[in-house]
Amino acid sequence: MTIYNLGSINVDHVYRLHHMPQPGETMASRDYAQGLGGKGANQSVAAARAGAQVVHIGAISAQGEDWVLDRLAEYGVDITHIARLPHVASGHAIILLDAGGENAIILHPGANGRLEAGSVERALEGIGPDDTLLLQNETNLQVEAARIARAAGARVIYSCAPFDIDAAREVLPHVTLLALNEVEAAQLTAASPAGIQVPAMLVTLGADGAEYRDLAAGTVARQPAFPVEVVDTTGAGDCFAGYLAAGLDMGRDLPEAMRHAAAAAAIKVTRAGAGDAIPEAAEVLDFLATHRRD
Ligand SMILES: Nc1ncnc2c1ncn2[C@@H]1O[C@H](COP(=O)(O)OP(=O)(O)O)[C@@H](O)[C@H]1O
Ligand SMILES: [Mg+2]
Repeated sequence: MTIYNLGSINVDHVYRLHHMPQPGETMASRDYAQGLGGKGANQSVAAARAGAQVVHIGAISAQGEDWVLDRLAEYGVDITHIARLPHVASGHAIILLDAGGENAIILHPGANGRLEAGSVERALEGIGPDDTLLLQNETNLQVEAARIARAAGARVIYSCAPFDIDAAREVLPHVTLLALNEVEAAQLTAASPAGIQVPAMLVTLGADGAEYRDLAAGTVARQPAFPVEVVDTTGAGDCFAGYLAAGLDMGRDLPEAMRHAAAAAAIKVTRAGAGDAIPEAAEVLDFLATHRRD
C-alpha cells in the first residue's frame, strides 16, 4: 500500500582533489559534482522507482535547495511531509576524493536532526496494517515513529546505519525487519554478543550478495550479487533496502523481491552517485531478462 520513510535528505558535494588537504593547506578542486544523497532519500527514491507509493517524512532548510524536493518528486516520491525549517542548514555531505580514489567525508545532519514530533505524527496518521515504515539512523524521532507504525500493525524496516547500539536497543522492539550491511552486522555482534530479538534480518554482503534471515522460522534465503563492473558503491545498500521494501509492499514473494533488489543494486554500482544513480523498474526488468542468476 504505502511506504512511509522517516529519513535523511542530504546534498552530496563531491570534490575531486589531487591529494587530501593537510592542516593549514588550501587547494583548488579539480572537479565538483552535486547530487542527491542521504540514506533516507536514497531509500525513498529506490522504493518509488521500484513502483511503490512512497511518502517521505523529513526536513530540509527553508532557504534554498528547492531542487532537492523537485528531484524527489520527479522520482515519484510524495514530498508533502518534508518540512522546510528556518535557521538550519539542509543535511549535507562534503565528500573529498583523492586521485587514488580514497575518500574523506564530513557529514552535517542539519535539518535531518531537527524533525518535529507533531509533524511526524501527522504524517503517520493514516498508517495501517498494509503499510510499511522505513527508518535509518540519520534523523531524530525513530522510536516515536516506529512505535506508531507497530501499534498500527505496519511492517517496520530499520536500517541501523550509521551503526549505533543505543539507537538499535531503543528501536528494535518495534522492528519487523532489521537491515544491515556486513560491517554493521559485525558491529552488532560485537556490541550485543548474546544476539538480539527481532523477527527477521537482512544482511547485505557487498559483492557476495545478501541474506534474509527469518529468525522466527530459523530459515535463511540467500541472494547472490550480479557480477558487474563497479564504478561507485555509494548507496548500494539503500538501493537494495528500498527495492526490497517496495517488492514486499507490492506483494512479491521474498525470493522475487530479493532478486529485484539485487538487480537494482547491481545497476546502481555501475553508476556514479547515490540517489540519482538508482534505476527505475523498467531498467531492472531489462537487466533481469539479460542476467539470469538465482
Ligand atoms: N561489487 C558489487 N557487485 C554487484 N553487486 C553489488 C556490489 N556491491 C554491492 N552490490 C549489491 O548491493 C547490495 C548492498 O551492498 P553492500 O555493500 O552490502 O551495502 P552498503 O552499501 O550498505 O555497504 C549487495 O547485497 C549487492 O546486491
Ligand atoms: Mg558496502
